[in-house]
This record gives sequence, C-alpha cells and structure tokens, in this order.
Amino acid sequence: MNIDWEDLRAHARVAMKKAYAPYSHFPVGVAGLVSDGRIVSGCNVENASYGLGLCAECGMISELIRSGGGQLVAVACVDQHGNALMPCGRCRQLLWEHGGPDCLIDATSGVLPMSEILPDAFGPEDLQTRN
Ligand code: THU
Repeated sequence: MNIDWEDLRAHARVAMKKAYAPYSHFPVGVAGLVSDGRIVSGCNVENASYGLGLCAECGMISELIRSGGGQLVAVACVDQHGNALMPCGRCRQLLWEHGGPDCLIDATSGVLPMSEILPDAFGPEDLQTRN
C-alpha cells in the first residue's frame, strides 16, 4: 500500500491545531492511515484534573473505532511545530492493538515499524496463548 507521508503529516498538523492543551501548552496531533484507505486523526485533550488528560492517539483510536474500525498501517504524530513526535509509551500500546507489528510510524529517526518502537510487546494474542 502506497503511503503518502506528507498527506498524513498534513492531517496530523490540522488535528494538532484543534488540541485542547491549556495546561501543558504542548499541542499534539496525530493521523493514521487505515488499511481501507481512510485517514483518522486526533488531538490531545487535557483536563483541570491533570492526570485525566487524553493523548492525541486516544482520540485517533476512538475515531478509528467509531468510523468502522480496521487496521492502522501508518501513523504520523506531530508537535506544535508540525515536526515528528514519538508516541508516548502508553500510546505505543494503543497503536500496537490496532496496528500490530508492521504498522509504520513516522519516527523522529525515520520511518520505523511498531515492532521496533515497541519490541517484545504484550498484545491481544497473549490473552489467548497464556490463558
Ligand atoms: N501527548 C500526546 O498527546 N501524545 C503523546 O504521544 C505524547 C504526549 C500529550 C499529552 C499532554 O497533553 C502533552 O502531550 C504533554 O505531555
């Protein structure tokens, strides 16, 4: 599947502009290409109860499911300058669930598969094989 990274980054930048980040002043946007060609996106949404803030990836995954589900094949996350931003540890786990090991990430060091940014991951199959 051909991945238009510039288009994906552009969607992430549009989402970043919608971020609600009055506490960290660190807006984040993310966009994901789904296997059926859809693009889903999200922005971070903070809260006065700081620990309840939602990362941009949470919003994107919610949109993925709401709009029909499917497998993420490529993800671009950006900071307020529109530059590539690495997903935090928790969000790598979210991306693993819906992208798997081959989902490509627009990492700060270049495009990398999820298997490299979350090696030896725990995933849904562990619930089956270790039950
Ligand atoms: N943030 C994200 O939205 N995604 C990440 O992967 C890294 C961190 C947000 C959370 C918080 O609103 C702000 O960035 C500063 O940590």
